[in-house]
Amino acid sequence: MTSLFDPIKIGDIAMTSRIAMAPLTRNRSPGAVPNTLNVAYYQQRASAGLLITEGTPITQQGQGYAQVPGLYTRQALDGWKNVTDAVHSEGGKIVAQIWHVGRISHTSLQPGGGQPVAPSAITAKSKTYIINDDGTGTFADTSEPRALDISEIPGILEDYRKAARGAVDAGFDGVEIHAANGYLIDQFLRSGTNTRTDAYGGSIENRVRFAVEVVKTVADEIGAGRTGIRISPVTPANDASDADPQPLFTLLVEKLAAFKLAFIHVVEGATGGARDFQQGEKPFDWDALRRSYRAAGGTAAWMVNNGYDLAMASAAIESGRADIVAFGRPFIANPDLVRRFKEDAPLNEPDKNTFYGGGAVGYTDYPALA
Ligand SMILES: Cc1cc2nc3c(=O)[nH]c(=O)nc-3n(C[C@H](O)[C@H](O)[C@H](O)COP(=O)(O)O)c2cc1C
Repeated sequence: MTSLFDPIKIGDIAMTSRIAMAPLTRNRSPGAVPNTLNVAYYQQRASAGLLITEGTPITQQGQGYAQVPGLYTRQALDGWKNVTDAVHSEGGKIVAQIWHVGRISHTSLQPGGGQPVAPSAITAKSKTYIINDDGTGTFADTSEPRALDISEIPGILEDYRKAARGAVDAGFDGVEIHAANGYLIDQFLRSGTNTRTDAYGGSIENRVRFAVEVVKTVADEIGAGRTGIRISPVTPANDASDADPQPLFTLLVEKLAAFKLAFIHVVEGATGGARDFQQGEKPFDWDALRRSYRAAGGTAAWMVNNGYDLAMASAAIESGRADIVAFGRPFIANPDLVRRFKEDAPLNEPDKNTFYGGGAVGYTDYPALA
C-alpha cells in the first residue's frame, strides 16, 4: 500500500514524499523582491516533498497586494535564485505559483494607477492589502476593473510565457499555474465573474478557453512535466461563484488530460474553510472529477488540499483518492512538518495575526524539533 512518506515522480520532478507545502502569501517582500528572510523561510521548509511558493505575480498588472514578490523584474528573479539555490542545497524541490490577480487589485498597485483588468467589468466584493503614503498597511476595497479586450489576451499569454521561462531560469523545478481562488483564470472560468459574449465567455467550452490557453503556453515554453495547475471549483474566495461547477471543471480537467502535466492541485471546498461548501444545486463530487480526468487519459499526479491532517492525508493516499496532499497552515507553523508527521510528534499552532506582513516573528521563528 502506498504511504504518505513514499517518494513519487511527478513529470520531471522527483519528490521524496507525497507531502507538499501549499502556496502561502506572506507579504514579506518589500519592493516585490524576495530577500534573505524569504530565503531562510523556504530553506527551513525544504524537507517537504515539494514546496509551492506563495503566489508570484507575472506582471505589475497581475499584482494585487503590497509586498508580494513578483517574477517580472531582474531583481526579483535574482532574489528567487537565492531561494531556489537554498532549497536545492537542502535536497528540496520548489515550484513557483505564477499568478495574475485580475480584478482583485487596487489602482494604487497598477501600472500608472490604472484600473485592474478582468474578463468582465464586475467589481469584487473583496479586499486587498495596500501600503499608505506614510508606510502603514491597510486592507482596502478592490477597485472597479475594466473588461479585457479580446485583442489583449495574446499579450497576457505572453506574460505567462515569460514568467514561466523566468522562473525556470531562476532555478525553479517548475511552476504551478494559479487558476484558483477567484483570480484572473478563475474569473474567466466561473459564471459569476464572466459575462463575456465573445469566444471567452458564455458556454463552458468558451469559459475554459483562457485556462487551457495559459496551460498550453506555459507547457510549450518549459515542458508539461514541469507544469502544474491549481483549481478550486467551489470556493467563494474573492467573491467567486459558479452556478453549476461540476460540468465546468469536468470539461476543464478533460481538456487538461491532453497535456502530460506534472500535477493537478485541487482545493476541495471553501479555501481554508468548510470542506463541504457547496455552489450550485448539488454537492461537488471530487472523486468524479478525478475519474473524469483519468478516463480522458490524464496522467498528472492528483494533489489535494484543504483542512487535511495526518490521518486524513494518510487515508487519501492509501485509498488512491490522491497522489499528493498539500498542507498550508500546518507548514506555516511547522518547518519540519514531514518529520513531525513521520514521528507523530505534536504540531506547533499557527498564529493568524502574523500570517500577512511583518518580519521574522511568525515567519522564521517557529521551532523545529530538537
Ligand atoms: C496566509 C495564507 C496565505 C495563502 N496564500 C495563498 C496563495 O498565495 N495562493 C493560493 O493558491 N492559496 C493561498 N492560500 C490558501 C492555501 O494554499 C490553502 O489552500 C489553505 O490554507 C487551506 O489549506 P490548509 O487547510 O492546509 O491550510 C493561503 C492561505 C493562507 C492561510
